[in-house]
Amino acid sequence: MTGEDSRAFDVASVRADFPILDQEVNGHPLVYLDNAATTQKPNAVIDAISHYYRFDNSNVHRGAHCLSDRATEKFENSRQTVASFLNSPSREHIIWTRGTTESANLVAAAWGRANITTGDKILVPMLEHHSNIVPWQLLAEEKGAQVIPIALTDAGEIDLSDLDSKLDATVKLVAVNHVSNALGTVNPIKHIIAKAHEVGAIVYVDGAQAVAHFEVDVQALDCDFYAFSGHKLFGPTGIGVLWGKKSILEAMPPYHGGGEMIETVSFEKTTFNVLPYKFEAGTPDIAGAIGLAAAIDYFNQFDRQQVHAYEAQLLAYIIEKSQAISGLRRIGEAVDSVAVFSFVIEGIHPSDLGALLDQQGVAVRTGHHCAQPLMASFGISGTVRASISFYNTRDDIDRFFEALIKVLQFLR
Ligand code: ALA
Repeated sequence: MTGEDSRAFDVASVRADFPILDQEVNGHPLVYLDNAATTQKPNAVIDAISHYYRFDNSNVHRGAHCLSDRATEKFENSRQTVASFLNSPSREHIIWTRGTTESANLVAAAWGRANITTGDKILVPMLEHHSNIVPWQLLAEEKGAQVIPIALTDAGEIDLSDLDSKLDATVKLVAVNHVSNALGTVNPIKHIIAKAHEVGAIVYVDGAQAVAHFEVDVQALDCDFYAFSGHKLFGPTGIGVLWGKKSILEAMPPYHGGGEMIETVSFEKTTFNVLPYKFEAGTPDIAGAIGLAAAIDYFNQFDRQQVHAYEAQLLAYIIEKSQAISGLRRIGEAVDSVAVFSFVIEGIHPSDLGALLDQQGVAVRTGHHCAQPLMASFGISGTVRASISFYNTRDDIDRFFEALIKVLQFLR
């Protein structure tokens, strides 16, 4: 974004926008390095939600009064904000969901039931989050289809030769994340999408870990579905997005039945609403949509390439500092990765490290990160994961390593 809405990227002023960061935890200033699990919320988001409930709260679409008109306008403008954010051709492609997980389940239930049959294959790389594995397994079980894993390289990248060898006309869907939540690997999804299309398969992209780190253009990618969650993009929990190609969404049967998703209802025959409402039964998360749009507006003030470069420097700084820690093994060393540093330390359980780091005010995540097949492929049960956002600083990284060194002195 340029012009009067743009704002120079300055991390101190960014941090001042996120009130939660300014606190002590266990007697130490908070170092928040669990951004892949959820990001913190700027005042702009907190205020937009509060303003909505204080002044505009009403149900959307059919109200015969001013508050409902106002709520509807904000709700639909929020959809347009998301459409522009993804470079969607229009707002009809944007389906509100509860988050990435529900988006995958929507595709599995609505597209999958209509398009997957016995003997079909669904390809899923080994580095997927459970939410991009289990919905396809449930679908495959119901339909007599198969979910086939795609192998990884030792660096934690998708093995493209394994993908090539498994792509044929029996493959109907490739489900892949844009960025791995557990490793930070950025997957070559444009290439994967083109390859999948060559055999007539469609591609579902889990973008949960991508949208807060670099720009996403669904038209340039030519993906068929793209999903993300509001809460990993500085917005509230409980709201997410499924973007789909219009022809595919139009041909799909509905997901949930109820109000809003219908055109007419009778006991003889019910007909369904147009896009995007066909997939939005019931009262939506109006405040969530408004909060997510506020998050996107907030984030759009900054030059995304500058933010990306800043985060890349922070990740490089973590990698450099980690080399001084004896026994530390980084898990996932993809050439192209963002925001995530996952590691194990020989002889020490990740959850012990996490608990002791927390005692020093450092918030990380430990365990399998909802990616058990990935952990199994590395022969481990879990990692410690430090994940950054654009409000983190070199000082945060220094404090993380100081705390880690103390923990190791204590444990060894
Ligand atoms: N999917 C979230 C994570 O990776 C919860 O932490």
